[in-house]
Amino acid sequence: MGGNGKLSIILIAFFAIFVSISSAYHYETKEIEVPLDHFSYANNATFKLRYLYNATFAKNHLSPILFYTGNEGDIELFAANTGFQWELASSLQAVVVFAEHRYYGKSLPFGNDSFKSATQFGYLTAEQALADFAFLIDELTDGENNRPVIALGGSYGGMLAAWIRMKYPHKVAGALAASAPIWQFTNLTKCNIFSKILTSVYATGINNDQSNRNCSINIKKSWEVFESYSKTDKGKATLNNAFHFCKGMEITKPEDLQKFFEYLEDVYGNLAMANYPYDNTFLSPLPAYPVAQFCMYLKTAVDNDDLVKSMQQALNVYYNFTGKTKCLDYKSAYEPSMGDAGWDIQTCNEMVMPMCSSGGDDDMFRKKDWSFKEYSDKCFAKYQVRPREREMLIRYGGFNIETASNIIFSNGLLDPWSGGGVMRTSNKKVYIIIIPEGAHHIDLRASNPKDPRSVSEARTIEENIIKSWIQNFYQRTVY
Ligand SMILES: *[C@@H]1O[C@H](CO)[C@@H](O)[C@H](O)[C@H]1NC(C)=O
Ligand SMILES: *[C@@H]1O[C@H](CO)[C@@H](O)[C@H](O)[C@H]1NC(C)=O
Ligand SMILES: *[C@@H]1O[C@H](CO)[C@@H](O)[C@H](O)[C@H]1NC(C)=O
Ligand SMILES: *[C@@H]1O[C@H](CO)[C@@H](O)[C@H](O)[C@H]1NC(C)=O
Ligand SMILES: *[C@@H]1O[C@H](CO)[C@@H](O)[C@H](O)[C@H]1NC(C)=O
Ligand SMILES: *[C@@H]1O[C@H](CO)[C@@H](O)[C@H](O)[C@H]1NC(C)=O
Repeated sequence: MGGNGKLSIILIAFFAIFVSISSAYHYETKEIEVPLDHFSYANNATFKLRYLYNATFAKNHLSPILFYTGNEGDIELFAANTGFQWELASSLQAVVVFAEHRYYGKSLPFGNDSFKSATQFGYLTAEQALADFAFLIDELTDGENNRPVIALGGSYGGMLAAWIRMKYPHKVAGALAASAPIWQFTNLTKCNIFSKILTSVYATGINNDQSNRNCSINIKKSWEVFESYSKTDKGKATLNNAFHFCKGMEITKPEDLQKFFEYLEDVYGNLAMANYPYDNTFLSPLPAYPVAQFCMYLKTAVDNDDLVKSMQQALNVYYNFTGKTKCLDYKSAYEPSMGDAGWDIQTCNEMVMPMCSSGGDDDMFRKKDWSFKEYSDKCFAKYQVRPREREMLIRYGGFNIETASNIIFSNGLLDPWSGGGVMRTSNKKVYIIIIPEGAHHIDLRASNPKDPRSVSEARTIEENIIKSWIQNFYQRTVY
């Protein structure tokens, strides 16, 4: 089962980081008609791409545009969870645009049939999405290069922000790519980096707090303990009594246990990504620094029965922070729904991000190898398409970003995705910002009094760099 469980971390977690829309922000919702296929003339079809627009802060028609390059989800979720862009717009007197990524939210080229087969979903690629964004920027700038456009994005959206600056530098004056793992591809980054960072987050907490070490040790131990419990009737009863599983989800067969394990792996990833210093509700309602809250129950050495109990209490932090959850549902998140079909498909065309776990001392996950062949076979079985392993290296250059300029790569050290991020470069035109106390693209979120200093400082530096790009743009000579 090489890499399969970990694959779901990408599927769910990458996506789940923005699930609530309780927006404090207001905008007009607009559409632009874009070609279905930007790269050939074999097909004339077009579809409507949605974008959100607010020009209230702008002075005039030459004011800067802050352009969020939408990622794998409904664009309204990103508008609601990217407070920093709104704060920047106010301070820079800029237009705010949030552009939806094709095949997500309401931007479905074939409506409800968009994910039927490769005939429909074959146009779902990052290149096509970047071309959509370039089309929209062209329209917003009246077909002239007359006002600075700054791309912003987080996670996969951050990758798109970096790439649109690389591919369309004449359309985008600069990009803020937050928590953008553009190096999480084959042969760039070790496949166990994600597991390794997660393990260290659970082992050391926020401030390298060694009293947490038993947390990752207990998690590591739990796989075997649960596995052995699942093999006897008494053990199964212990698990089923402890965990309050929803009806019909009791662990009765090995597949149930595997599903539960995948769920746990996702929980560990999600808690780490959302390890923010304040309560938040976007992922699921979570307390401040949820990893520490989770680990509170797993700090001491415990025997096996205690481990089951402690794990149940710890999990409550994730799925029952409100105290109102009736039962633990570890299955429905995996049922295919239209909302996340898109990302699953993208991981089966170009977004091949190798994931594995060494199972060693610095890795609290079960040992899992990475096999491209197995991965590809699984994709083929599901979608009748096979990924191209070197696609992203060929298109975006891998480590060779020497020709890139005006990109800020920011990464938080509490974020497991930072392992595939750009944390160093010899390119002086690319800026690296490392946020020691930062989880997944915290810098894009609205300022909060509880933000650690490293987060507010990162935002200040980002704003200053963006200001300088805008100034340079207005001062440029046009031939
Ligand atoms: C744009 O945002 C500002 C500040 O939140 C708000 O006052 C204004 O009503 C918004 N404009 C539109 C068109 O929604
Ligand atoms: C594209 O549209 C034009 C007319 O607008 C039509 O003549 C042509 O056959 C179409 N091409 C394709 C490949 O559909
Ligand atoms: C698409 O599916 C949704 C949800 O199942 C449904 O509400 C909607 O009416 C469908 N749209 C069309 C055009 O069939
Ligand atoms: C990765 O590197 C190995 C060793 O150099 C090489 O054999 C393999 O073809 C590379 N894979 C890809 C997809 O580039
Ligand atoms: C961690 O576990 C070890 C035994 O494995 C135990 O000796 C130690 O006291 C535990 N640490 C804490 C903080 O409980
Ligand atoms: C959720 O928390 C409440 C209050 O602590 C508790 O009564 C309930 O059993 C918990 N739900 C589950 C599924 O554990």
